[in-house]
Amino acid sequence: MAKDTLTVTDNRTGRTYELPVEHGTIRAADLRQIKVGEDDFGLMSYDPAFMNTASTKSAITYIDGDRGILEYRGYPIDQLAEHATFLETAYLLLFGELPTRAALDEFTHAITHHTMVHENIREFIDAFRYDAHPMGILVGTVGALSTFYPDAKEVDDAETRKLQMTRLIAKMPTLAAYAYRHRRGLPNAYPDNDLSYSGNFLNMLFKMTEVKYTPNPVIEKALDVLFILHADHEQNCSTSAMRGVGSSRVDPFSATAAACAALYGPLHGGANEAVVRMLNEIGSVKNIGSYVERAKKGEVRLMGFGHRVYKNYDPRAKVIKKLAYQVFDEVGKNPLIDIAVALEKIALEDEYFVQRKLYPNVDFYSGLIYQSMGLPMDIFPVLFAIGRTPGWLAQWDEMINDREQKIARPRQVYLGSSRRDYVPLSDR
Ligand code: CMC
Repeated sequence: MAKDTLTVTDNRTGRTYELPVEHGTIRAADLRQIKVGEDDFGLMSYDPAFMNTASTKSAITYIDGDRGILEYRGYPIDQLAEHATFLETAYLLLFGELPTRAALDEFTHAITHHTMVHENIREFIDAFRYDAHPMGILVGTVGALSTFYPDAKEVDDAETRKLQMTRLIAKMPTLAAYAYRHRRGLPNAYPDNDLSYSGNFLNMLFKMTEVKYTPNPVIEKALDVLFILHADHEQNCSTSAMRGVGSSRVDPFSATAAACAALYGPLHGGANEAVVRMLNEIGSVKNIGSYVERAKKGEVRLMGFGHRVYKNYDPRAKVIKKLAYQVFDEVGKNPLIDIAVALEKIALEDEYFVQRKLYPNVDFYSGLIYQSMGLPMDIFPVLFAIGRTPGWLAQWDEMINDREQKIARPRQVYLGSSRRDYVPLSDR
């Protein structure tokens, strides 16, 4: 009869071990009993970049990379993008179920009434260089928020955690908008509680001298959908940073600063910015062929292509491509879209990309939409961070509640020098 175990024979000793298999995994710690001698530390698994190691059990986001499926708490991403709002999605991620009308109203009210930041934060942002990258400002100011909320240290208290999660989701757009306006030398626009989450963000970005800012409903909806599409993506680089740093029991503002820093990199959240730079560099459809050749030689990467998990079309990219045309109908076509579509077509037919299963990812079209909304490139990763915040927090909260989790502390395989005695400077 089939058993849920794995039998391993250690050919160094001839001994056989039976390891339990649960949820398609063995526990790496079970390998430690496999030893060649009494003082042997025991067998470890070696897995740089966590290519095949589950660091947690999770009930938040499901991805099937081969079939191009993404679900939050079981709900397919395209259904959420079509029917839900970002705050409804944030509630779903944080609390596990879609909210009732009353629960959503209460959640929306709480978020809306935590959007202001202390004036010291505004002054803090003012002190950054005039051309500071907004993502650098975000990393610094999210971390700085921890000094304003010392209660956030009480990470084992569920009510305190809930309050900090509300604060973070509410204040991220405010910090992002302040960072954007600092770069442009504009006075800040304060939050407007009459507007939706995304509408208020547009208000804080774009309000000029008008008494009341009215967001364009198509842009407001598109932004909300983009936030939904970015809201979670299970154990990606920034989420792993959030969990890893949070596992030291630091407050969630500091952990979120670490997650933002991870997201800043061009291989992660910085890719949307890199895509627009790449399309500008290509410049014209006639140059695509030579650019693709350079990518195949490894001289450049096609930004917005490829994914560690998706080996099929990223389901988020499908929704975004459609959204791009809705936005272009409203504000005019982004000329780079023709290059993007032609590049996608050529790459999807090319043997190099087919063989490696490299498809457009979420970042391939999102930058073009942001650009058409009138946003400069270096704020794109900041928009990703706003969308991803509920996911980071849901994952952090799940980690805190998970009795199996401890401070994250990977092992290493030491290959350095063996013991040697110190040599005085004069003798070297
Ligand atoms: N352009 C050209 N070749 C590529 C690309 C690309 N964008 N991505 C992967 N490859 C090749 C790579 O050279 C390698 O080829 P070979 O086997 O001949 O050495 C093969 O495909 C496997 O690549 P990898 O680097 O081992 O794959 P990975 O899982 O470590 O990397 C990735 C995933 C997303 C970092 C990578 O595909 C990449 O750099 N893409 C461009 C950056 C990008 O769009 N990032 C956004 C990711 S989605 C948003 C997010 O979650 O942050």
